[in-house]
Amino acid sequence: MEKSCFICPVCRTGLFKTEKTYICQNGHSFDIAKKGYVNLLMSGNGGQHGDDKTMISARADFLNRGFYDKLSEEICKCVNEHCQGGGIVLDAGCGECKYTADIYESLEREDKKNTVIGVDISKEALGFAKRRTNKLNLAVASCADIPVEAESADVLVNIFAPFMPEEFKRVIKRDGMIIRVYPLAKHLWELKELIYDVPYENPETDMEEEGLTLVEKLDVKYDMEFKTNEDIMSLFKMTPYFYRTSEEDKKKLEEVKSLTCRAEFGIAIYKKNDHR
Ligand SMILES: C[S@@+](CC[C@H](N)C(=O)[O-])C[C@H]1O[C@@H](n2cnc3c(N)ncnc32)[C@H](O)[C@@H]1O
Ligand SMILES: [Zn+2]
Repeated sequence: MEKSCFICPVCRTGLFKTEKTYICQNGHSFDIAKKGYVNLLMSGNGGQHGDDKTMISARADFLNRGFYDKLSEEICKCVNEHCQGGGIVLDAGCGECKYTADIYESLEREDKKNTVIGVDISKEALGFAKRRTNKLNLAVASCADIPVEAESADVLVNIFAPFMPEEFKRVIKRDGMIIRVYPLAKHLWELKELIYDVPYENPETDMEEEGLTLVEKLDVKYDMEFKTNEDIMSLFKMTPYFYRTSEEDKKKLEEVKSLTCRAEFGIAIYKKNDHR
């Protein structure tokens, strides 16, 4: 049995990995699903949490078209810079693991010894991750209660997922980093112009977090050239707008054959305040 990167959600001691389960010293045991993840979510285990299968498969389909690869490259660059010599990277709210897998591969390319962990509250999301790689350590869990020991991660990434500063501060090492990715005001503006009479800019993300110092902030902005209606619909289906748009407005989009659409992401890098 090898010691794993996870802790038991019941007694909070370390979990050991066997071929088919994770088990703690007190005998609490959690099966590894066929798709490779372990479900460590304690509350309301049975129901649907987080993104459902339709949302996840729409996201995977769009991301596989490569339109967010520039963002992924920037994220990998940030992780590599802050993970000199390798370490533990934790993707909180990893979804179907596009960026988690890219991070793993980029660290491997640099020949760094590392462990990459993905946590998401949706088991459907983690079910998709195996299509990308089987090299990740994946657990169904909430960003508000991450099943890893305190001060265990060198880098925590949080990409378009709930930002839980208290818990993130707990799990990163004293000199650890948090890399947070969020949409800027004009992100997907031209898509919104097509579906809404009066499109609104995305609200500004509040960057101040108690106990965290914002050490760097960078913007990633570029135009995406969609040359087919398939590309446009693929983007639309992975956005929350898809679920809020009337059938009539959806029809407008089905007629559009090409579109230049703005992608605007913010990347914020935080470290912990206290280095006592
Ligand atoms: C917009 S998706 C982003 C996924 C991935 N980071 C990406 O960019 O492709 C948001 C993800 O957060 C997950 N999520 C929502 N609430 C969560 C929570 N409390 N804890 C962990 N994950 C959560 C959803 O299931 C979903 O996979
Ligand atoms: Zn236990």
